[in-house]
Amino acid sequence: MKVERIIPVKVSSQDAVIYALRAAKKYRPDAEAVEAKYIGGGSFGRAVEVRFADGDEKIFKFLCAGGMLEKEVYDLRLLKENCTVKMPSVIFASEKCGGIPVDFYCMEKIEGRPAFYDRKLFFGGKKKRAEFAGEVIEGLSSLHSRTSPKFGDTLHPVFTSWRECYGEFAEAVLKEAEKLYAEGELGKKIISAMRAAWALYDDIFATEPEQAVLIHGDLNVMNIMVDSAHRVSGFIDPLNSMYADREYDLFQFRNLTGKRFRLAETYFGNHGASPRSEDKLAFYGLWNEVFCFVRSGVLIPLIMNPLVKNMERRIKLL
Ligand SMILES: Nc1ncnc2c1ncn2[C@@H]1O[C@H](COP(=O)(O)OP(=O)(O)O)[C@@H](O)[C@H]1O
Ligand SMILES: [Mg+2]
Repeated sequence: MKVERIIPVKVSSQDAVIYALRAAKKYRPDAEAVEAKYIGGGSFGRAVEVRFADGDEKIFKFLCAGGMLEKEVYDLRLLKENCTVKMPSVIFASEKCGGIPVDFYCMEKIEGRPAFYDRKLFFGGKKKRAEFAGEVIEGLSSLHSRTSPKFGDTLHPVFTSWRECYGEFAEAVLKEAEKLYAEGELGKKIISAMRAAWALYDDIFATEPEQAVLIHGDLNVMNIMVDSAHRVSGFIDPLNSMYADREYDLFQFRNLTGKRFRLAETYFGNHGASPRSEDKLAFYGLWNEVFCFVRSGVLIPLIMNPLVKNMERRIKLL
């Protein structure tokens, strides 16, 4: 994973719809696309739902940065093979081509909407939320039962120890963060929390995970889909999937919704927690958010501020 600023190709939601219609023509020259609707996207992705005259519905995802396509498609296929929760199958992938200036792929549509938008699930009873957490953790555990002799990227796992594998990434993120702090782009509170946490790295990561397991890498409540009965209908959008510490797949659970769904708690209840699990989760969460900021230049205070506070709290307790 390169830790550096990525300048994306500008693709507005309207552009994405136009590109999706062009891509749809290539995919099915026989059928007319009767509707194309922008359904979301983050720093580098744009997703468009296309409906054809015969009722067929597909999702076209556009990647606004180069070099992402091969890994995203590889990981979607690998994860789908190993997950008991439905994941979209990739129908075809294409590098940028005439009329479409970014790489893209076409995939199966997962029913429902992201769990984050299911207000009834969020505000509804404890029992529903516990059922939801149980389903998410069962699916995630199926992924985690796929192991590898080495830690590292799914395409190229080379590390014999997690501390070494993650340490290389963590150090690179800290180095970039120091640069951004010196340039006035990153706040004092963030860099101070990172420096203090980095000084404790060997303590926090003293216990090696027993195994390198396949992780989704971005399983937050925006990438967990639920149907109209509030049941889990799919996992989407893996990012930086690796063979990693299993707990490296848990820190995103508390982004945006805190501990409301008790997802990490349910995972720990089923699998046990490592000695420094909460310190690691704090570290993983903060480092990942700074990594996202390094790459995209976008800082989301609603996510970043609680992560900094949590890291400070954990350091005080150590
Ligand atoms: N296969 C799919 N089926 C249904 N909806 C999808 C699918 N893929 C993406 N989406 C929708 O599009 C949104 C953005 O897509 P996503 O792959 O998560 O992009 P990003 O990488 O930008 O987060 C998702 O939050 C979800 O609402
Ligand atoms: Mg997403």
